[in-house]
Amino acid sequence: MAGLFDEVTETLFANKTVLEEEYEPDTILEREDEIEEYKDALKDVLFGRNPSNVMLYGKAGVGKTAVTTYVLDELQQATREREQADTLYVHRHNCNDDTVFSAVRALVNQLLPEDEKQFPKKGLSTADAREELYAQLERVGGTHLVVLDEIDHLAEADDLLYELPRARANGHLDAARIGVIGISNNYTFRNQLSSKVKDTLREEEISFSTYDATELRTILYDRAEKALVDDGYTDGAVGKAAALAAQDTGSARQAIDLLRKGGEIAEREDAATIEDDHIDRAREEVKRGRLRDKIADQSLHARHVLEAVAHIEHNGDTPVRTKDVMKTYQRIADERGDDPLTTLKSIQNHLSDLQMLGFLIRHEVNKGQSGGYYYTHELDMEPDVVFEACNELDKEDAV
Ligand SMILES: Nc1ncnc2c1ncn2[C@@H]1O[C@H](COP(=O)(O)OP(=O)(O)O)[C@@H](O)[C@H]1O
Ligand SMILES: [Mg+2]
Repeated sequence: MAGLFDEVTETLFANKTVLEEEYEPDTILEREDEIEEYKDALKDVLFGRNPSNVMLYGKAGVGKTAVTTYVLDELQQATREREQADTLYVHRHNCNDDTVFSAVRALVNQLLPEDEKQFPKKGLSTADAREELYAQLERVGGTHLVVLDEIDHLAEADDLLYELPRARANGHLDAARIGVIGISNNYTFRNQLSSKVKDTLREEEISFSTYDATELRTILYDRAEKALVDDGYTDGAVGKAAALAAQDTGSARQAIDLLRKGGEIAEREDAATIEDDHIDRAREEVKRGRLRDKIADQSLHARHVLEAVAHIEHNGDTPVRTKDVMKTYQRIADERGDDPLTTLKSIQNHLSDLQMLGFLIRHEVNKGQSGGYYYTHELDMEPDVVFEACNELDKEDAV
């Protein structure tokens, strides 16, 4: 008997992982200068000396993590081959929504021998955790690079950035050396640091600019070649993904995502090649997804008000006055079994919030002689997007 999956073959994708988030590229393109600076900052490690501390700045998706992984892998390789170099240990930690305590605790846990109990979550202070960190570093010896990724999310990063680089100078470490690599998506993070920390970290700051379309095209071609079958993509598709991402964010992540999603759309339609049209639609899908998330963040009644305007827009009756939005809104709320809001003022408030969030456009209409005015509203997006989002959300609410 034929199996359900028998006819499924990989069509466009020869190796799709190459386009997934967790893929670590072994070639970094278009970042020669940054890599050179990085190399310079860390070269002392090769001779058994203290590493400099490094701060990386740049928007999301511009290669900070990828470059760091590449450079540190290379460095680790080099230290194995060099007589003078101490053993190099790299500790990576993502600081997303962390406290200094949990960051230090995570580092301690990375260092503890396997059979040792994890550092307790509660009951001990950050100073205790730091002391344990130093004890473990001393036990292991060698050179340690601590990578604190997305450090701008770390509340009170200042303390950590002050203490760790000085651990040796302050007599906490003797057998071990430590260097800190901080990565921030946010340039203004620098201004939040105290001047004493800035002084230490001024040693090495590397900033990553956003990519332009040409750079993104180079990065994308390399990925496309590895990820897709021969003739699986057109130059137009790669150029389109690069151009859209350059225009929008300058992020390689966005460009790669567009290519992958474009491939998925092409595959769904049994197309043999990814064309620029697939990329356009991929972007459209992403945009819809984002809008849907934004709609999902709204309160129930705000959603009903938005849906009301979408219905009116769909019927071609916009711009529409608040009192007419209210009628449609009340019908929708009734249909869904939600007690409708009853004052014009509350609808007015929702409309004005929705306008501020970019869902609606509002016009002020003067009544002429009498000197009064009123507002009319129209939707600032495709009504279908709202219907789809509200439908899905209603289904979720019903569960
Ligand atoms: N110069 C580059 N060459 C190859 N791939 C890159 C380059 N820059 C970024 N990427 C890829 O783009 C994505 C986002 O990069 P990442 O390093 O995670 O950005 P950041 O850490 O700055 O947010 C990753 O998949 C990464 O592999
Ligand atoms: Mg990153």
